[in-house]
Amino acid sequence: MKTRFTEADAAAELRADVREGLTDDPKWLSPKWFYDAAGSELFERITELPEYYQTRAEARILRANAVTIAETTGARTLVELGSGSSEKTRLLLDALRKTGALQRFVPLDVSASALQTAVAAIEADYPGLEVRGVVDDFTTGRLDDGEDRLVAFLGGTIGNLLPEERAGFFGALREAMVPGEWLLLGTDLVKDPDRLVRAYDDAAGVTAEFNRNVLRVLNERLGADFDLAAFTHAARWNAEQEWIEMRLRAERAMRVRVAELGLEVDFAAGEEIRTEISAKFRHDRIRDELAVAGFVLEHWWTDEAGDFALSLCRS
Ligand code: AVJ
Repeated sequence: MKTRFTEADAAAELRADVREGLTDDPKWLSPKWFYDAAGSELFERITELPEYYQTRAEARILRANAVTIAETTGARTLVELGSGSSEKTRLLLDALRKTGALQRFVPLDVSASALQTAVAAIEADYPGLEVRGVVDDFTTGRLDDGEDRLVAFLGGTIGNLLPEERAGFFGALREAMVPGEWLLLGTDLVKDPDRLVRAYDDAAGVTAEFNRNVLRVLNERLGADFDLAAFTHAARWNAEQEWIEMRLRAERAMRVRVAELGLEVDFAAGEEIRTEISAKFRHDRIRDELAVAGFVLEHWWTDEAGDFALSLCRS
């Protein structure tokens, strides 16, 4: 495994991010910090919830189109951004292997622990495949060398970036790619707001626990003293921006200390921290945003219900 984003980089970024977000008005935290080992496990549990249709919908689209993707791209290298457990990626690996061209798999993730587990599992099940895990922050758009690359960015994680961050990311990624290489992008789609809200506020409360986990991460890594029980989870549809917002609401007025930042943060009763946006897309918006960066949308697939989309684009 190679580390481009070291523990020290992560620590410095966490400090800068948390200072900026908790002193801003309104307060925010970056979703990047959800994914420590416990958070990554909670996210895996979210993907199995009845309300969280995304993961299953994307897997169905992949299952139906993996062979076409493999034949169209003829990729020798599969790069996966924000790979997490790399479970769905197996559908792509299987198809790419069958076409005979695949030599190397490069999963990239900020979570070293999740990456290690994924690399070990893929290596065990795909003998002969060169697996090179890279610990990195995918938002930089930087890529390792590789020939005939297919860059997969699945799960709808692109939705966590704000529009201007998304533009920066697509631009940097396009710069890092050679003309003729491919991008496979998973995006959740605009749909009935009630269903969207339920997907981010499940009956079993797993998403609430996932959301509050970010405060535990701050307690652990920055010596903060957040009382997790004093914050409640909220998921809201922002109809104007077409994104889901996750928030943590302080149920009482309180002062929180973040020891390692020498920071004291005051909360009013009912004050919220925005912890994530998860943008939902439409076909034309994806096509247009990709075009601005120089990608050409060549294939667009959705599941039968039209819940989720996979876009295959040429650089
Ligand atoms: C992993 C970023 C795609 O935005 O749906 C799940 C994270 N947040 N439930 C998403 C998440 C709340 C997820 N992504």
